[in-house]
Amino acid sequence: MTFGIMADASAPAKIIFSGEHSVVYGQPALAIAINLRCHVKITKDGEGLLITSKNYIQKYYYSTAKLENVLSGKIINSKLDNIAMAVLTVFKPNEISHKLEINSEIPIGAGLGSSAAVAVATVTAALKIKGQKYDSKIISDKAFICERIAHGNPSGIDNLISTYGGIVRFQNGNMIKLDLEYEIPIIIIDTKIPKETKKMVELVKKNWKSNPEKYNDIFNKMGTLTSKIEKELLNNNLENIGYLMLENQKFLEKIGVGIPNIEKLISNLSKLNTFGYKITGAGGGGAIIVLMKNGDTKEAIKIVETLGYDVYETKITNLGVN
Ligand code: PMV
Repeated sequence: MTFGIMADASAPAKIIFSGEHSVVYGQPALAIAINLRCHVKITKDGEGLLITSKNYIQKYYYSTAKLENVLSGKIINSKLDNIAMAVLTVFKPNEISHKLEINSEIPIGAGLGSSAAVAVATVTAALKIKGQKYDSKIISDKAFICERIAHGNPSGIDNLISTYGGIVRFQNGNMIKLDLEYEIPIIIIDTKIPKETKKMVELVKKNWKSNPEKYNDIFNKMGTLTSKIEKELLNNNLENIGYLMLENQKFLEKIGVGIPNIEKLISNLSKLNTFGYKITGAGGGGAIIVLMKNGDTKEAIKIVETLGYDVYETKITNLGVN
């Protein structure tokens, strides 16, 4: 790699094992970085910013004037402004003369943190090409600015886990890394029902405002569940974790982020050799994580694929941004 002309970086996807939504209200959450990555390459080329992507259908060009608008909070391209902002956290609009290529293995809008991974990787590549000194905190903080554009009022968990990797307990902006010496046998099922994190977070906020007492009580209980899951993770007690995941799923449905028409999948999941399952991320669509009884992933994957869903066998990755 030659500094100043080209720089590349990659960052991982994540699952939220417990605590999505309640984390926005100050409760703890557990997130796990997984082995699907977003790769970006920035090259010094032309004027303004040309974004190309193998995954997001578009090729889009931001002129210097458009970049100035993004910086001042105007919406120029609602699907890509968060990515343009990642470059703008490092360069002034008139310094940008770059091409940004995205190549991501992470499904979009599935609750697996694709927007955070692209932001983390882009910020890092931009810092590298500028030759600016950086550390993980700088990357995560800058990516959080992009996440605000993508999701409105995010907790900050996605940018953090994508930067640091591993398993993280997150609460009110602070994180603790957990050390596990075993793989958690999880498969991820992408229902391919499109969802938007921003809308789901807004929906929960609206519900909360209509009855804060009821929702605060639910969020407290979700927080307690997360702490129990953390303890059971450290004890390697997968059976108890599965049970707690199912409890968690009930709370997610109660706060209004269940997945529509999911009964068929759920009834098939009940036949599989699973300890438990739940929505991961914002819900309303997107992905479900399933905790398998050891060794049974292959058969389960076949069954779920025949139902027409995308399935990912997951490994925890300790490699955050690279
Ligand atoms: O769906 P995702 O991967 O964007 O995760 C959203 C997680 C929420 O808790 C719903 C929001 C947040 O910012 O923590």
